[in-house]
Amino acid sequence: MKDNRKGRRVVVTASERVSMLPPYLFAEIDRQKEAALKKGMELIDFGIGDPDMPTPEHILRAARDAVEVPAYHRYPKGTGSEFFREAARNWMREQFGVAVEDGLDVGAVIGTKEGLAHVPIFFCNPGDIVLVPNPGYPVYRASAILADAVPVDLPLQRENGFLPDFGAMAREVVAGTRLVFLNYPNNPTGAVITLDQIQRIVEWARREDVLIISDNSYSHIRFDGRPPASFLQIPGAGDVCLEFHSLSKTFNMTGWRIGFVVGGTNLVRAFMGAKENIDSGVFTAIQKAGEAALRSNIAGYFDIYARRREVLVAGLKKLDWDVCDSPGTFYVWVRLPRGTESMTFARKLISHTGIIVTPGSGFGTFGEGYVRFALTIPEDSIHQAVGRLEQKELYSHRIKAWLKKGMK
Ligand code: MLT
Repeated sequence: MKDNRKGRRVVVTASERVSMLPPYLFAEIDRQKEAALKKGMELIDFGIGDPDMPTPEHILRAARDAVEVPAYHRYPKGTGSEFFREAARNWMREQFGVAVEDGLDVGAVIGTKEGLAHVPIFFCNPGDIVLVPNPGYPVYRASAILADAVPVDLPLQRENGFLPDFGAMAREVVAGTRLVFLNYPNNPTGAVITLDQIQRIVEWARREDVLIISDNSYSHIRFDGRPPASFLQIPGAGDVCLEFHSLSKTFNMTGWRIGFVVGGTNLVRAFMGAKENIDSGVFTAIQKAGEAALRSNIAGYFDIYARRREVLVAGLKKLDWDVCDSPGTFYVWVRLPRGTESMTFARKLISHTGIIVTPGSGFGTFGEGYVRFALTIPEDSIHQAVGRLEQKELYSHRIKAWLKKGMK
């Protein structure tokens, strides 16, 4: 309550919608990490998906040169500079065979997190339903809450290959749905989607008048030997789809904050037009770095994750862990023994072994009973982690004892 009369206490609170936001998942993990470090433990951190390898040299060079250009120190162009947008169009053409000139458009975003978080504010009216994958990246739910929309779970279950089942949704939910967030290759489950499945989702969205928000941040990180897929490969998808592409994971650029949105011209223009009211675009020198990234030859870029994945998956399987083994992203999604709470397990894992994983419950109720390993640490550390787990026999042996004691 605000009261400026002399001698009265002034208490300013955040809005009701802000009070509805859960604590941000990775902030909670950071707190647990701090506590373990204070105890002097040597940590092996499979927590946040933040690539450990440096941004490639040719991208750094482009940024260094660009920083010297005085014209780039002024306000950037809101929609993104033409050179960056052209590089993004070229990326869509070369990587996915999508011609952006053809009824589609692109715009720069300050990282896909920023872009995704603004979608419900720009496209939903209060009370509209937003379908959020559960488990899923926490930003989708938070962004719906901040838009006064209603987040409704879209369960992703193992028996369905962690794909959505729109047929199982109640009719009145579908009728009230304004937009759906989808993310394949999927964080946290690692699931991938085929073009046939994408086609069926696009047909559903057209029929039901639902906007698809495809978060394609992990497009190229997949180990099934299949090419990356985009929703915009389906003819006409641009009418009902905005897709976000991130440079963070593909080019080890999480700190740079750059990505792009692509979709039907009207949708992209509506999105970028609204966004111009609240930010001033991406620093032009960073767009230059982004241009260099999008013109890279990425052959072999992800082999290192493939090796890390093999080491971890083989190590966990040897210890009888129930690994989901989905072929996408640099995450490994693991089922815990029945009845195990993921947060309790993750805490115990830190205190017994110094190994940090992300509890599945942080990604939603359907993530309960799972934990996620991010492969963003060197192969040596993964071998070391497997060794620690082997010594402790945590999952197959001790955890059963904990379970008997009700995981206290
Ligand atoms: C994750 O660990 O889920 C992601 O790295 C978080 C993010 O991309 O913001």
